[in-house]
Order: sequence, then C-alpha cells, then structure tokens
Amino acid sequence: MDIRFLLLFYILPPTSIETCPDAVCQNGNKIIRFPFRIQQSQLQPKSCGYPGFDVSCSNHGQIRLKVPYSEGEFSIQGIDYTSQQLWINDPKNCLPIRILSLNLNGSPFSGVYYRDFSFFNCSSQYLKYRYIPIPCLSDSNHTVFATPSRSVFRHLSSVCSFIRTVRVPVQQPYYEHVLTSDLSDDLRLSWNSPPCGMCESRGGRCGFRTNSTGDIGCAYFPSQGISRAVRYAISTCAGVLATLGLIGLMYYIGGKCGRAQTVVRPEPEPAMLSGLDGLTIESYPKQVVGEADEGTCPICLSEYRPKETLKTIPACLHSFHSHCIDAWLHLNASCPLCRTSPPNSLT
Ligand SMILES: *[C@@H]1O[C@H](CO)[C@@H](O)[C@H](O)[C@H]1NC(C)=O
Ligand SMILES: *[C@@H]1O[C@H](CO)[C@@H](O)[C@H](O)[C@H]1NC(C)=O
Ligand SMILES: *[C@@H]1O[C@H](CO)[C@@H](O)[C@H](O)[C@H]1NC(C)=O
Repeated sequence: MDIRFLLLFYILPPTSIETCPDAVCQNGNKIIRFPFRIQQSQLQPKSCGYPGFDVSCSNHGQIRLKVPYSEGEFSIQGIDYTSQQLWINDPKNCLPIRILSLNLNGSPFSGVYYRDFSFFNCSSQYLKYRYIPIPCLSDSNHTVFATPSRSVFRHLSSVCSFIRTVRVPVQQPYYEHVLTSDLSDDLRLSWNSPPCGMCESRGGRCGFRTNSTGDIGCAYFPSQGISRAVRYAISTCAGVLATLGLIGLMYYIGGKCGRAQTVVRPEPEPAMLSGLDGLTIESYPKQVVGEADEGTCPICLSEYRPKETLKTIPACLHSFHSHCIDAWLHLNASCPLCRTSPPNSLT
C-alpha cells in the first residue's frame, strides 16, 4: 500500500473522547485532526472525523477535499481549528473555473464573506490592457473577466457576452476598488458544526465521546505547575520522538512539533492585504487636469474634468484620479491597470 501520510503522535488517551492520532500528509506540513481525518488512514478511523470532513493526501503532500456537489477536489491551503475556518484553492491552478461551478450545498462549509462576481467572455483585444483578465479561461481570441463592480459590469455588458454572476466566498470584505479580478486567491470558508473552536482555543482536543451517538467532547490534559499548553507541547513532542524516532526528531527540529499545539494558519496573501504606506503614496507625482486634457479614470470610470488632481505611478506612468488611486494603493501595492508593483520610492 502506498502510504502517503505520516502519523505525528498519539494523544495520551483521555477516557471521555475517542483516541485519535494527529496526522500530516507526507511532504506536507498541515496537521490533520478532528473534525478532519485522512480517509485512507487506518489509524484515523471513521470515528476520528466528523461527517463531511474527510480529506486525502496528494502525491505532493497537499491535502485534498471533496465537496459533494462540486466536481473534482480542492486543495486545502490552511486550516484554523480555533476559528473553524479553512482556505481552499484549485490544485490545477484555475480557481475561476471551479468558482463557476462551486456548490457548497451538502458540505459543512460556507463562506465567511461573499462577493458577487460577474463573468464576461470578450472578443475585443483592447480590454485586456484595461482590466485584469482570467488567463486560464482566456485564449488568443477571447478574454474572460470577472468583475464585482457595477460600472465595469455596465461597460462589459455592452461589448462582451455575459457568462453568469456567481457568489464568491472571498477572503476579505472590501472589494470597493477592485475593477476585475483573476480570482486566484484562496477561497475562505468556515464551518459551524462541530463547534470545536472553543475547546481548541483552550488547548483541549475535540472528538466524539466514547460510547455515545454523535456527541462531541473536549479533552484537556492535566496541568500542574506549568501551563497546559507547555505541558501539552512536551507530551506531544515526547510522543513524536517515541513513536517516530528519527522522523519525529526531524519534525521536532523543524519546529513542526511545536506547531502541533498551535493553530495552523494559512500563508498570508500579500497581494490582497499589503498596500503601500501613506508617505510613499504621497510621494507620487501629481498633476492638475487642464482644459484640453481628455480621458477616463480606469478606476472610477468617470471622465477627467479640468482642475481635478491626477496622480501617476512612477514605475509604469499610468495616471488616475488622485483620490481613486490613493484608496487603491492603500490596499494593493500594484498598479490596477498593469499590476506593476510600484517600487517603494522611500526605501
Ligand atoms: C468564449 O466564447 C468563445 C466563442 O463563443 C467560446 O469558444 C469560449 O469557450 C468561451 N469561453 C468561455 C470561458 O466561456
Ligand atoms: C483565433 O482566431 C483565428 C482566426 O479566426 C483562428 O485561426 C485561431 O485558431 C483562433 N485561436 C483560438 C485559440 O481559437
Ligand atoms: C463502551 O462500550 C463497550 C461495549 O459496547 C464496553 O465494553 C466498554 O466498556 C464501554 N466503554 C466505556 C468507557 O464505557
């Protein structure tokens, strides 16, 4: 049998809940435990996972999740056991095509923040210089865009063929300044049941109660003198060393053992969250629109009028209404037109 996962350690058996080992996929680094379980694993039998939370391991150590009414599998990018959230993406790197057929019915998961995106299929070539396209859905003659913006919707409706509007479980609530998106950022989901977040946040372990029908319990480890978390880390690390010897030692050295009792968080999404600082934004050159100047601001789609202030991104020389680009750059460190990352002129 092809064993594609490793068992990290055994929980010291508390009497009240099912005793289940934590696991990671081989070559992976995310800990899988209740309510999730690796379905190929004999040491994480059915009673070690909650219905709907079965995952599998890919050859490359990714965790894969199947959602009942969506074709194919998703890759799990991160799990936060405390806040009961997970981040998923497409293992084939074309998340938008998965979003077009996403159906979370029948799964324990739902979005944290939703945003409607309208998809358009466009044959005009110039549009891809104006908006960010979805590369994996586009070819040399057609460009596909997804927009959360009403004004871009109106514009594209007049020149492209409308595909459909989809509710997307996005990462963050703010999308005011996004014209179009390639929708490659992880989808953020959460689950309500089983409610293990409180137990996890106190350093406990959640699981089915033994000899019960579906009740969830929380097991704590005795703490005397030292804190529960430290004690727990020691007991789990000792478990690794005893069980897995050298492999366990490698995990320990790699800091993965210490991570076993903390929350497994997804990698931050730099493109989404890191804007420029105010001084840098302030340093970009400004100009005032003259009587003879013409053009439309690509962000707010309104015409430039005399006496309005424009701001230019030095790295690519694209100009926008000053107030529009300021708001954008606070959230994104790249040009909304060409995605050039403006070099931080102060550093
Ligand atoms: C866009 O339209 C073309 C022509 O109708 C079609 O061949 C292509 O599959 C469409 N693309 C998408 C993603 O719908
Ligand atoms: C794009 O259109 C040209 C001319 O009609 C055609 O020869 C070519 O095969 C098309 N490319 C794709 C990817 O459909
Ligand atoms: C659970 O049930 C089994 C038989 O159904 C019994 O042998 C066992 O002692 C029970 N365990 C506990 C902790 O009650």
